[in-house]
Amino acid sequence: MPIIYFMAPYSASATALGAGPVVEPRDIDLGALEELAKTAIGQMAYDYYAGGAEDGGLVQENIAGWGQWNLSPKVLVDVSTISTRTKLLGSDVMGPIVVAPTALHAMATPGAERDTARACARAGAMMTLSSLSNAPLDEVAEAGGGAPQWMQVYILKDRGRTKEMVEQVAAAGYKALLLTVDAPVSGLRYQELRGGVSLRDDLELPNLTDASTTRVKGEGFMAAVCQEFDPSITYDDIAWLSELSHLPVLAKGVTRSDDAVKCLDAGAAGVVVSNHGGRQLRDAPAPATVLPEIAESLTGRGTLLVDGGIRRPADVLKALALGADGVLIGRPALWALGSGGEDGLVALLEWFTLELRRVMALCGVRSLQEIDTTLVRRKVPS
Ligand code: FNR
Ligand code: LAC
Repeated sequence: MPIIYFMAPYSASATALGAGPVVEPRDIDLGALEELAKTAIGQMAYDYYAGGAEDGGLVQENIAGWGQWNLSPKVLVDVSTISTRTKLLGSDVMGPIVVAPTALHAMATPGAERDTARACARAGAMMTLSSLSNAPLDEVAEAGGGAPQWMQVYILKDRGRTKEMVEQVAAAGYKALLLTVDAPVSGLRYQELRGGVSLRDDLELPNLTDASTTRVKGEGFMAAVCQEFDPSITYDDIAWLSELSHLPVLAKGVTRSDDAVKCLDAGAAGVVVSNHGGRQLRDAPAPATVLPEIAESLTGRGTLLVDGGIRRPADVLKALALGADGVLIGRPALWALGSGGEDGLVALLEWFTLELRRVMALCGVRSLQEIDTTLVRRKVPS
């Protein structure tokens, strides 16, 4: 697999990344990065990563959602030093940008999720491992070298295997579980279906059973793998997972404020406002639209994260101003891995964090704690 190394890494070490003055601006063109990745990883992997539900329109609506908001900058604040450091569920990170759980990293980079783990550790960023990873979860933890990591969980019909996996996750030192709640069945995904996306013969899904991995090796990856998921999961499963693992559980895929409250009432440590990157229900709302009402209904209870369409450092500031504690990035991380492997992802994470520092300085805020709702205003429709 050709690896195109396109970005020289910044010289910043992970710890220097967390705080300091604004540094020289750097340009990362995510569109160009996507094109480079497409050439490097091939059409099938691209169709899987890029695609969304039906016509893929919600992927674009998610991105556009952040554009509904203006930033309202404060002036005459001493911004000679800016800190992006924060804690997420008790873990120290250099910035509020988390790598989202996405399946099948072996299609993007030779070391699969081990490369992702090494990159996140180098950048001081939280990584979330998908339960549909190609690398075994204990090897990913080892590659992270003790850096904090989270694990995403799909509850399988095979509850015994799910229990075993969750116990392995806890033993391997993962710090939290993200229970995906928006995929009781697969979305209808035209690009994936028409592109004939399937699990490559040489790849494994080590968190499923061997029999499940074999069954999944047909056409329509998500449709096939979803057959392994338990469509009968309910709020009770949040408590089931936290009792099994003794780890905080975040419910990933919430877009309604009543659901967010119910998740916390059921024992979740927080929620991820998400429509699965526009891959499940075509007509779900953009996260940037519903985040404010969900933040309001939670009144500061629990950890509130958001993903979907975060493409610019300014989007991160908007999300935090609208009430989130952090954001997850999905496809941009895949494009960085696909075009530049581990170093590519380090460069992307450094860019997001260092350029967030610039946006914060331009908005007159020096730390994430200083970000509040007065910094965002809904754009006046033209
Ligand atoms: C995903 N996502 C996802 N979510 C999850 O809970 N488990 C998973 O295994 C996957 N797999 C996956 C694969 C690919 C190729 C994509 C693009 C996405 C959803 C992901 O965690 C996240 O919610 C979105 O990717 C966020 O949107 P953006 O940043 O891609 O716009
Ligand atoms: C996807 C699954 C794996 O979105 O979550 O493809």
